Amino acid sequence: MGGKLGRLVARAGHEVVFSYARSEQKLKMLARDAKGKARAGTPREAAQEADAVLLAVHWSRIEDVLNQTGDLSGEVIVTCSLPMNDDSTELVVAHTSSGAEELAKMIPKARVVAAFNTVPSEVLFGVYEAKRKASRPSLVYCGDDESGKGVAAGLIRDVGFDPLDAGPLRMARYAEPFSLLVAQFAYKGEGGPELAYRFMRFRK
Ligand SMILES: NC(=O)c1ccc[n+]([C@@H]2O[C@H](COP(=O)([O-])OP(=O)(O)OC[C@H]3O[C@@H](n4cnc5c(N)ncnc54)[C@H](OP(=O)(O)O)[C@@H]3O)[C@@H](O)[C@H]2O)c1
Repeated sequence: MGGKLGRLVARAGHEVVFSYARSEQKLKMLARDAKGKARAGTPREAAQEADAVLLAVHWSRIEDVLNQTGDLSGEVIVTCSLPMNDDSTELVVAHTSSGAEELAKMIPKARVVAAFNTVPSEVLFGVYEAKRKASRPSLVYCGDDESGKGVAAGLIRDVGFDPLDAGPLRMARYAEPFSLLVAQFAYKGEGGPELAYRFMRFRK
């Protein structure tokens, strides 16, 4: 998710720092492939003075990555991380809380927005390439900080989706299980994982 979204955001004109992988070569390769203002760096470098930090790591890595970013007070943290167990088969937080809310408790002074968790990474390039078409797929996002949500909505738009504000961060407790439903269609259904969704309203 981070590699793909980072490259797309760079192509859309933003400056991007790729960080957090076991191979620095991979991060450098992503930066080269981004074809924009992009470079590899440490999590601390990525987070410093960033307009937004995308958190796209396995749930088991959250603590480690937060230990490496330094102080995130005031920063907009866009998280697509789902609170999955170690073998990624089940949510370990659900219904009465969400990964996004638990993350916000870990970094209480940061402005956490949950976004991009409801689509498979395989669809991202296709959505970006189709972004000039009239009808864009939806992408739900939620958070408690309005200006942070504005930043996230801009990024969602820049990579080709139609941002759909689902309200406060607590809505992540419904969006996160929905992500597993989308994953079921993407990875277990017919037609492949290049799947996005669009909410439609019908009036008489
Ligand atoms: N993939 C999807 O379609 C999708 C969709 C919705 C939500 N999500 C959520 O998004 C998050 C990221 O998923 P993903 O599929 O993008 O995961 P991923 O491909 O495994 O990427 C995770 C990143 O963390 C790095 N990493 C893992 N272990 C590390 C360690 N010990 N030290 C340093 N870096 C380490 C990986 O680098 P390495 O190159 O070293 O592995 C990689 O850069 C997850 O929480 C997932 O639930 C994913």
